[in-house]
Amino acid sequence: MKEFTMKNLISIGDLTKDEIFEILQLAIRLKGERSKGIFPNGLEHKTLGMIFEKPSTRTRTAFEVAVVELGGYPIYLNWNDLQLGRGETTADTARVLSRYLSCIIMRANSHSTIIDMVKNASVPVINALSDIEHPCQLLADLMTIYEKKGALSGMKLAWIGDGNNVCNSAILSCALMGMSVDVACPPGYEPNGEILRRGQQLSAVRILRDPLEAASAADILYTDAWVSMGDEAASALRARAFSAYRIDSKVLDAAKSDAIVLHCLPAHRGQEITDEVMDGPHSAVFDQAENRLHAHKALLLKLLC
Ligand code: CP
Ligand code: NVA
Repeated sequence: MKEFTMKNLISIGDLTKDEIFEILQLAIRLKGERSKGIFPNGLEHKTLGMIFEKPSTRTRTAFEVAVVELGGYPIYLNWNDLQLGRGETTADTARVLSRYLSCIIMRANSHSTIIDMVKNASVPVINALSDIEHPCQLLADLMTIYEKKGALSGMKLAWIGDGNNVCNSAILSCALMGMSVDVACPPGYEPNGEILRRGQQLSAVRILRDPLEAASAADILYTDAWVSMGDEAASALRARAFSAYRIDSKVLDAAKSDAIVLHCLPAHRGQEITDEVMDGPHSAVFDQAENRLHAHKALLLKLLC
């Protein structure tokens, strides 16, 4: 297997365009093989620790299944069951866990905790979601777009809603792959400034206010929760700010006739997406969720083998 330049995956921008393509191609191959009952190994005698400071359905399960199917052993480590929850430092935890584990997969409230882990770990660290980015999500999303559209470069993605962690990784990865991105968000809820500037250096990335303008001629519509994990205290304020930011049939009609709809999930039906769209013929959200498994497998093989 070709050697990867990166050791960790903290930002989707850690990967080059070619490396992303390699991961997607491997993920698609693994998906095809799995459907025929073929399960290649690669992680034998490797034990992966998964530290979660926040809840997870997809990321945790997809990583656990990925590791098991590749012949490795996953250990789920809930933040509050570790001494981390009682104040042991991230740095000391990183140094100790690196003596046992082949890789640390980490979901944390603050991106700086993941950076702290990377700086002090001697094994690869994977960001399984922080307040700034969700790189593993975008690998599955790009895979889904590639499967459905047959290409990435030249596609237009419209993001409707909060300029959050998933939006940041979407901007960075789509721009890297030669896609354009229109983000429709209310004032005060724009994506990370540094990521936006980097995205704009790579491709056409605009911040708009009108969801219909953003959706116009889009190949992909993407949305996420109005209230992300950690933003709960501002739920009422956010519900007001985002009330016009949802993917409904009007927004879908503004996009290309063959547009696909993505949502990283969990969805809040009736808020950022309607039932009609989520369960309709343009929705790719459940294929997208499945692709977490295949994309995680490909990432682990590229990083660890
Ligand atoms: N999309 C995603 O990361 O979902 P979970 O929070 O369930 O892992
Ligand atoms: N933006 C959401 C994504 C969940 C997968 C959150 O951070 O809660």
